[in-house]
Amino acid sequence: MIALYPGSFDPFTIGHEDIISRAAKTFDGLVVGISEDNAKDNFLNYEQRLNLAQVLFSSFSNIQISCFRGLTVDFAKELGAEIIVRGIRNVTDYESESQMAQLNKQLAPSVETIFLNSPDKYRSISSTLVRQIHLLDGDISSFVSPITKDFLLKLK
Ligand code: PNS
Repeated sequence: MIALYPGSFDPFTIGHEDIISRAAKTFDGLVVGISEDNAKDNFLNYEQRLNLAQVLFSSFSNIQISCFRGLTVDFAKELGAEIIVRGIRNVTDYESESQMAQLNKQLAPSVETIFLNSPDKYRSISSTLVRQIHLLDGDISSFVSPITKDFLLKLK
């Protein structure tokens, strides 16, 4: 079974990496789908996020990295993915993720959303805060992998 893990990943945090490695163990194949046109202002462009992901997940033989435009469910159908994976860190995530899952289900009844619960140690980590700390010269070592930290430092 093929699953799609969509997101902005701007940048990838250790929380994302945890979800990705667990999902890769659960499904035959996992596509990490980098959304190119999310409403948020991007920090890394999609090519940078794609390049970073290719390095981060190079050791997983069943992970494919792709960028996509448009609706997540359309991309899932294009891939033949029956599952959308999303991580849940807290109650706020639960509210917004369940809303998104319900609408996605209405748009594409054949695609199921499955939530993976984040462990406590990753519950407060978000790309938005990591971005902010990094841009203000703070130390992001506890929130991203060394590969991501080096990648971001080289861009400064
Ligand atoms: O992890 P993020 O950054 O919150 O990811 C959000 C993402 C990219 C999964 C979501 O915004 C999305 O699915 N965007 C694609 C457009 C879409 O399908 N919108 C309808 C969602 S019901």
